[in-house]
Order: sequence, then C-alpha cells, then structure tokens
Amino acid sequence: MNIAIDGPAGAGKSTIAKLVAKKMGYIYVDTGAMYRAMALYFIRLGVASDDSAKIDELCNKAEISIEYRDGEQVVTLGGENVNGLIRTEEVGNMASATSVNGNVRKKLVELQQQLAAKTDVVMDGRDIGTVVLPNAEVKVYLTASSKVRAERRYKELIAKGMEADIDKIEADIIERDERDMNREISPLRQAEDATFVDSSYMTIEEVADTIMGLVKKYEG
Ligand code: DC
Repeated sequence: MNIAIDGPAGAGKSTIAKLVAKKMGYIYVDTGAMYRAMALYFIRLGVASDDSAKIDELCNKAEISIEYRDGEQVVTLGGENVNGLIRTEEVGNMASATSVNGNVRKKLVELQQQLAAKTDVVMDGRDIGTVVLPNAEVKVYLTASSKVRAERRYKELIAKGMEADIDKIEADIIERDERDMNREISPLRQAEDATFVDSSYMTIEEVADTIMGLVKKYEG
C-alpha cells in the first residue's frame, strides 16, 4: 500500500505525510530532501544552477542515500548526515532549479521507487502520483494559497532561530511554483486520480483525517 502526496512548496506535505505515516505505521519518504541533498552537493562544488552539462556529469557521482534512524528519515551525502543543512531557502531554490535536469530526476526516482517497492510508504513530492508511484492506492494533491504557504514557511524559519523576510519568501514560493509546474520533465501537476485538498483554512488534524478517510474508503 502506497500513499502519494504531491503539491507546491510549503503546502504542509511533510507535516501531513509524517502524521499519516505514523497513524498507518508506514515509512515516510521525503523526496524533496533527496533533491535538496543533490542541490547541496552542487552548491558545495560551485556548480551554477543553469550549467546543465556539469549537472549531467556530476549528478551520478553524488552518493545520496536514505536511512531510517529512530523512525526519522536521514539523508546522507557521501556518508554525511545532511538533514541539518538542507532546509535553507538557498538549498530549496537550488533544488528547484536543478531538479529540472533529467539525469538528476532519473537517479532520484529510481531510489524512490526502490524504497516504495520494499515497504508501505507515504511519499511526498511533486511527481509521486504522476511518475514515481503511478499505481499508488491513495493519491492526494495538497495545496494552499501562496500567502498562507509563505506565512507557514516564515514561522518555521523564525522558530528555528533563522532570519526571514515574509515578502521575499512569498516571491520565492511563487517563482518556485512557476518553475516546478512548468518544467519539461515531470512537472508538478495533479494526477487524474488524485484528490484535491486545499489546506489554507484547515488544521493539520483535519487534513490528516481527510487522507485517513481516503485510505478507509480505499480499503472499503
Ligand atoms: O518539497 P521541497 O521544498 O523539499 O522540494 C525542493 C525542490 O525539489 C522542489 O522545489 C522541486 C524539487 N522536487 C522535485 O522536483 N520532485 C520531487 N518529487 C520533490 C522535490
């Protein structure tokens, strides 16, 4: 049984996916973290986000893997735990820019499909219901207005003691959506058989309950 949750940046996918995974006893797979680890690799090597030849050449050298420690997903890059380094806006924007590359996607999609083949997962990302797990039993397209999403991101960053400018965050979110929805390969879009959920005015519990309702409906 696999549950696919797609949607734009800051829609609450990871919070919801984690909660649903816990309720179901499934593994949560955060695919954005993989694109972020890849982006960190390029940033460290000084690769420009639009240098597709370098990205093609280097992406297969990036050693990205996923481990689970105490139920938490740990993303490693060359064996180093990079969980604490990939949540910045810089890495997020680089991940959005470099995830347009076909070789980057091929490598990470394979890793994601291997994980889902082994165990029941709740997987979130941009192309899970459309490309990575087209046969997922439950698919959700989770979104919220860009204003609400910017406010959520802002609060997250402030809570972590990081600096943040809400207008810049909203502008980045809109730019990121544009790129993720209009790229040539596996753009973000709602799968035909996905349920649309707008979380702008819903609590986390309400969204999780909606998804649990879809699971129950599937199970009959
Ligand atoms: O979900 P996130 O903000 O951590 O994702 C960062 C970027 O990675 C996102 O802007 C686009 C890319 N991404 C993708 O192309 N496909 C996925 N399945 C997940 C993320």
